Order: sequence, then structure tokens, then C-alpha cells
Amino acid sequence: MNSEKINELVSQMTITEKLGQLTQLAPFFLGMDPTMDLTGPMNEMNLKPEWIKEVGSTLNGFGARELKALQDRHMANSRLGIPLLFMADIVHGYKTGFPIPLAMGSSFEPALYERACEISAKEGAASGIHLTFAPMTDLVRDPRWGRVMESTGEDAYLNSVMTQAAVRGYQGQNPRDKGRLASCVKHFAAYGAPWGGRDYNTVDQSEGMLREYYLPAYKAAVDAGVAMVMTSFNTVKRVPASANKWLMRDVLREEWGFEGPVISDYAAVDETITHGIAADSAEAARKCLEAGTDIEMMSSHYLVNGEALVSEGKLDIAIIDEAVRRVLELKNALGLFENPYKDADEAWEAELLNHPEHKRAAYEIAIECPVLLKNEGVLPLNNLKPEDKLKIGVAGPFTGTDRVMGSWAVNRESGDRSLIQALRNQMPQAEFITAMTGELGPLQADITDVPDEIDAAVERLRDCDVIIAAVGENSEDTGESASKTILRLSGNQERMIHALHGLGKPVVAVLFCGRPMEIGPILADCDAVLQGWFLGDASGAALADLLIGKANPSGRLTMSIPVSVGQIPVHYNAFRTGRPYRGLHERYVSRYLDCDNEPLFPFGYGLSYSEFAYSDFMVEKTGNSDGVLAKARISVTNISNVPGKETVQLYIHDVAAQVVRPVKELKGFRKLELQPGETAVVSFEITKEMLSYWNEEREFCFEPGAFDIMLGRSSADVESTRIWIG
Ligand code: BGC
Repeated sequence: MNSEKINELVSQMTITEKLGQLTQLAPFFLGMDPTMDLTGPMNEMNLKPEWIKEVGSTLNGFGARELKALQDRHMANSRLGIPLLFMADIVHGYKTGFPIPLAMGSSFEPALYERACEISAKEGAASGIHLTFAPMTDLVRDPRWGRVMESTGEDAYLNSVMTQAAVRGYQGQNPRDKGRLASCVKHFAAYGAPWGGRDYNTVDQSEGMLREYYLPAYKAAVDAGVAMVMTSFNTVKRVPASANKWLMRDVLREEWGFEGPVISDYAAVDETITHGIAADSAEAARKCLEAGTDIEMMSSHYLVNGEALVSEGKLDIAIIDEAVRRVLELKNALGLFENPYKDADEAWEAELLNHPEHKRAAYEIAIECPVLLKNEGVLPLNNLKPEDKLKIGVAGPFTGTDRVMGSWAVNRESGDRSLIQALRNQMPQAEFITAMTGELGPLQADITDVPDEIDAAVERLRDCDVIIAAVGENSEDTGESASKTILRLSGNQERMIHALHGLGKPVVAVLFCGRPMEIGPILADCDAVLQGWFLGDASGAALADLLIGKANPSGRLTMSIPVSVGQIPVHYNAFRTGRPYRGLHERYVSRYLDCDNEPLFPFGYGLSYSEFAYSDFMVEKTGNSDGVLAKARISVTNISNVPGKETVQLYIHDVAAQVVRPVKELKGFRKLELQPGETAVVSFEITKEMLSYWNEEREFCFEPGAFDIMLGRSSADVESTRIWIG
């Protein structure tokens, strides 16, 4: 169908048919059994039965058979033959469970993230889904916020690169192609910055902060051709995003040229009333439509008020028509008018279930994500003793559980994901003793902590050569509506580690969590710490191989780990202050009296079983040839006898500008694999764009002057040189 045909179709539609296209409901309204829990509250909808058949899309219904049947019923009743669009939250895998996005960010491997999204798209498409509400690309600096697990972290550049990889992975060349999904970037905008880390709370930022940090990753998605954009729950410049004209009309459409539909987040149109910027249902509908929210998710203000608003002259029908056209264009781009099922196919769906290639990919991705935070000569385990002489204790609530998928996992069926099972498989000759493996409840349960079996654990593990503490947070305490003020491990877990350390045997903590946790209190009791995140289906296998030494850790933190909650927000790219911290004993400077300014572990940090030496750091000016102003390079050598991966990171700092600049900003990275003794020369081009910033004239500008160019292994470990660019 071409644009003219779409216009013709719009001209034939009644107002109710139009408003139906602008409404999205859970599939049970349309008579389908729910396949996923609701992701928000159910409010009074005031829906008339005759409106239901006009609804244009559903969320979170899954299954080829079910969705084909739903589409058939719908098409039989659709006067103009307009198919339903099936959308769903496929965030980090569908049938195959991949690591949470925060973990995938830690891989610093966009190509692997892309692969995970490609597989998710294929599995989702076979199950009848047309569009995924992903990637979530909100920049995050506050680990109290439960949704940090859905983001790739605290850096705008890394998030942008990862976002583009995800969009490519889902959509491929064209989301219409077999096995591809349309992608919807979310949550526009700045949902990752709620005050106090409390979900749905106020966001309030300067425009410079938005432009340089919070907006770039959404723009990257638009530049990569993302099909749809979802609004956020929060305010931006004090107007809720779903009613925010500046955000959607000026920035998204006018400046960035986005032409696809914008969908509200779950009931976010309704929430403009609770926010207090709409007096009633009619005003909520009018404000959100005028601002550019085309589809209303899980509330019905458009349907209830649209007709009257137009007939009373309060809303221009052109706004509704424009929104409907965008929705129909997306349906058309996906080929739904010709084939309303798209790729829904029971046989293909079954064939993809437990597909060996997808399982292998889940492992290959999971192995890149864990971050080795500390290792004092204890890991890898296979260096300790011959396997048949090794006695390994494994203790804690994550020893035997397969609940390691993390929030937003669609497939929660049991699987072979436990750490202990994988360790036993991989080290058949070693002896394993487990202890204190009871369940760690979520914070809203009656019993929240793992049962205290500390004394028994100490007795059982007394003779072990090494003890692995499999600890963390319940995955239900991460994700949406899972904000916390205490980021420490539960009391019994901390006490268990302390008591086991008392045995005088090396203790290795493996952390299962969806956010940076406050691990300072256990650090001294642990000889090694592996940040394991929630790794999905391959969790056990990947962690076991890393612990044993069959694989080498290569993840790097993409969110700083705080010393204490009181430091938050703590992120590497802080702005310069007039009174920088220079030492513990100085008083009138920007510092805490009781805590360091620096995080416990910084952005970009992560250890390896290999050792890498850096040399020959050089920056040379190139005189603006093809927009390149300078080149930086450095040599990296694997000086150990273990093959491994190193992520070289490029940071810059503008020494003097019209507005205050951060102490450093990531502008490039490269993950290298080096054999023992091997050297690689890594070079980066430095462009004008990398040195630009948002100024008081409200535009990105480049100003000649001095810049520090830094290369190194983490945000806190770089070599730096200053250059003048005229
Ligand atoms: C979440 C979105 C999600 C939507 C649909 C909301 O509660 O904020 O991320 O896509 O529900 O499930």
C-alpha cells in the first residue's frame, strides 16, 4: 500500500475507528487469555463494548496460535480490514533468556548485544509478535532505581552505541523481513533520573543535561531508524512526557525528523490527571494528542473524548488523522495489510524453542558480561589444586536456584541455570559441599531474608579448600517499581560471608543482582568478587566457566558501584566544581566528612586473569582532515600467559569552555582479544563532534582550545595528554 492508499483509508474511517487505532489494550479485553502479567495498575476504562473491535493494537499477548486466532477474529469484524498490531516487552530475550541489559552493557560488545536482539526478534516474530518495547535506553546514575537493570548504564556514548546495536538487531535491514520485529525505543525522555531513585518520581533537569546526557541515546535510536518511540512516566521541564509538546513536536519530530508513531507508556495519558496538568479526562486526551502522543496505552481517554473534542472545536481533526496515518503506515511497513500474521507460525515457533544455536549464543553473550571486581590470588579455581583433590564449598541463596533471569524475562519456565549444577558438570572430579541454600525472599514477601543457617554452614564448609558465596538480591526486587534505599546484601548473607571468612579459607563472592550493590561491608571478607548480574539461561554455565578458568572474565562496569548510598549519584563524568577534593584533610572543598568522593569501583573497571601493559601513548593533531582533528593511539600487550580480552577506553576533557564541563567523558572504546605476549596498537580518531557541547545559545558548539585526551583501562586509570586545537 502506498501513502495515497493510506490517506484514502483514513478518509473512509469513522472517528471511532480512528480513535480505536490510537488505543492499545491488553489482549484479554479482546477475548484472549493473558499470557503475561499486567505491568501497571488497572484503572476504570469506561469502554463501550462496540469500541473494543476498533482497538488497533495489543500488548504482551504471545503465541503464534493464540495471536493468529485473535487476528482472525479481529479481521472478521474489521469493516475496513485493518489488522491488529501485536506489541510486547521483549527486553532481554524471549524463549531464550539473555543477560539483563545492564550486564550486556558490561560486555562492551555491541555486536553481541545486536545478536541477542536478533535472536529475540526471531523467536518473538515466530510467536506472532510484531513489535518489541525495546531497547530501554534511559541513562542511569542511581542504583536505588530498580530499572537500572534495563539500561546499559551511566554513559551517553556507550548507551548510544548499544542502542543502535539493539535497533539493528531487532529490525535488521527492514522490520518487515522474516524474523524481524519493529523496535520501540523507550522511555522518552529521561525516565532514568527520578529524584531519590524512586520510580515514577519527578525528573527535573537543565536543557544542557538533557541534551548532552539524557537525550543522545534516544536520538541514536531515531538515527538508526527505530520504528516507534514510547513516552516516559516522568515530567520533563515540569510537563509529563506524554503531554510534552517541546519533547515530541520540537525535539523528536522537528529536530530529529522522527516520523513513526509515539506511544504513551502504560496509562501515562491517564496519569496526566494525577500529575495535575489535566483537570479531567477530556483535557488529558486533548493535551496528549496535541503534544504528539499518537497511541494511548492502557487507558481510554482518546476513545471516550475524541469525538466530542473534535465536534466542539476543541481539537483539530488533523491531529487525529496525522496520528492514525502514522499507525497505519507502521502496519503497512510491516506488511500487515497483505499478511496480518506476519511471521506467526506454530511450527517455526516450536522449532526455535531450545534451538541449539540460540543456546550457544546465550552462553557466548553471558560469558562476556560478568565483571571481576577483586581477585587476590584465588581465581581461577583450576589453579588452586588438581581437580580430584579440590573440595569446594558453595553457600548462599543463589547456589542452586534457577531464578537468575532478572526482571522482564518472558520465559520464566524452570531451566538448567543453577551455579552448582554447572560447577558439578564442569568439574566432575571435584568435591562440592553446599550450605545455607534457602530462598532469599523478595522485599515484599513475609520472609525476606535467607534462613539463618550460618553456624551449620561454618561446620559443613570447615574443610573446604575454597568457598564460593552465591549471594545477591531477589530478581523481583529489580526492574519496574523496585526502588530501594538500602543496597547492601541482606543481613544473613553479610553475616554468612563474615563467618565463612572466619574459617581462614579463601572466599569468592558471586553477586547475582540487577544493580550496583553496596558491597563495601563484605569486601574485606572476600578474596575475590565476581559481579555476576542476572545472566539468563546461560547463567550457571557462564559463571562456572569463569570461576574455574575455562573462560576469562572480560566485563567492565558501565555503572559505578558506590561506597555508600549517601554518595548517589556517583558517576565518573561528574562536572568540575570550584572546590575539587584534593585530600582527606582539607576542609572547605567539595567532599564528605565520612566518605570518599570516589566510588568503590568506577565506570569502565574490571579485572581479568590476564595482565595487560600499556605503552607508546601518543596523540597527534591531524589538522581537520575529513573532520578528524587528532589521532590518539596506544599499544597494549598481554604480558601474562593467559589469553584474554582488554577494553581500551578513550576519554576527553575540555579544559575551558562557556559552561562547566565534566572531568572526563567516554568517546570511544575497543575490546581486544590478545594471546600471551601479543601486542595490539589501538587508535582512535578525534572529531569535532566528540569535542562539542551544548552551550548557552542552546546549540551544540565546538570551540578551539585545550583538551585532555586520555586512553586507558578504566575511567580511573588512564594516561593523559593535553593538546591545543585551533
Ligand atoms: C513499562 C514499560 C513497558 C510497558 C508495557 C510499563 O509499565 O514502564 O517499559 O513497555 O509497561 O508493558
